[in-house]
Amino acid sequence: MKITVVGAGAVGATCADNIARRQLAEELVLLDIKDGFAEGKALDMMQTAALLGFETKITGSTNDYSKTANSDVVVITSGLPRKPGMTREELIGINAGIVKGVAESILKYSPNAVIVIISNPMDTMTYLTLKATGIAANRIIGMGGILDSARFKCYLSLALNASPNDLQGFVIGGHGDTTMIPMTRFATYQGQPVSDFLDAQTLKKVAADTMVGGATLTSLLGTSAWYAPGAAGASLVEAIIRDQKKLFTCCVSLNGEYGQKDICLGVPVVIGRNGWEKIIDYPLNQEEKTSFDKSAEAVRNMNKVLYDMKLV
Ligand code: LAC
Repeated sequence: MKITVVGAGAVGATCADNIARRQLAEELVLLDIKDGFAEGKALDMMQTAALLGFETKITGSTNDYSKTANSDVVVITSGLPRKPGMTREELIGINAGIVKGVAESILKYSPNAVIVIISNPMDTMTYLTLKATGIAANRIIGMGGILDSARFKCYLSLALNASPNDLQGFVIGGHGDTTMIPMTRFATYQGQPVSDFLDAQTLKKVAADTMVGGATLTSLLGTSAWYAPGAAGASLVEAIIRDQKKLFTCCVSLNGEYGQKDICLGVPVVIGRNGWEKIIDYPLNQEEKTSFDKSAEAVRNMNKVLYDMKLV
């Protein structure tokens, strides 16, 4: 197997590091536009192989896409991260052109790759990749929901004083501070609803903290987060490479599911070797449905910018 990560910044490098540690491929390519940067990160990571016990061969490339040829999975992290006070949506003007160019270059050399989108605004970048490349929808997956669901479980575990690994919980909708929807009603502690353990006010706070999970880190760090986004990207790559049939919330193209069409939005999907294989239909109540429709409207408005910019 061969995996490429485009963008050797904090998120891309962390994602690549996790991919190497999990020994997901024989070959891992890190590509960046900054001269020598990907080569340096790749070599640094390769020097951990004898310490961490992996055999993946990691190489770096300065913008030479021929080095990425025949990748099975490609992760796109390119573009600017957000700064404190910025929304993910404000990045669209710069990142849309970058992501489109990257996707086209990747497909030239790896026409059958499954593409994972991490660049922000993630829902719109996923839609852009779908529209601009015209490849099968199941091969384009936006990562956001896995990250948001992990943050949801993190805050739930802190409130419950429980292991995050004993919790089930997921976040649907957009990957934006106001567009994501933590599905508190479906969250359980080993099968028992979390509402049996936590009062409504605490659960509200968990959901609110989840929604601004990325923004909280941006204001603390001065740039956007990387450990959780990188690990979330690697978990998605693992589910694809190992054909795990894992149920993750990911941003995928909707064609009538959850009442939406011509949009990419976070819903629970089964992930396997071909990308996302099936959308799982959870019965939303009226409040959840209203939130989902509102989230779709906000993302659709953002997608309009792509048409204004003549990128799709
Ligand atoms: C975050 C960015 C990577 O949520 O979207 O941290």
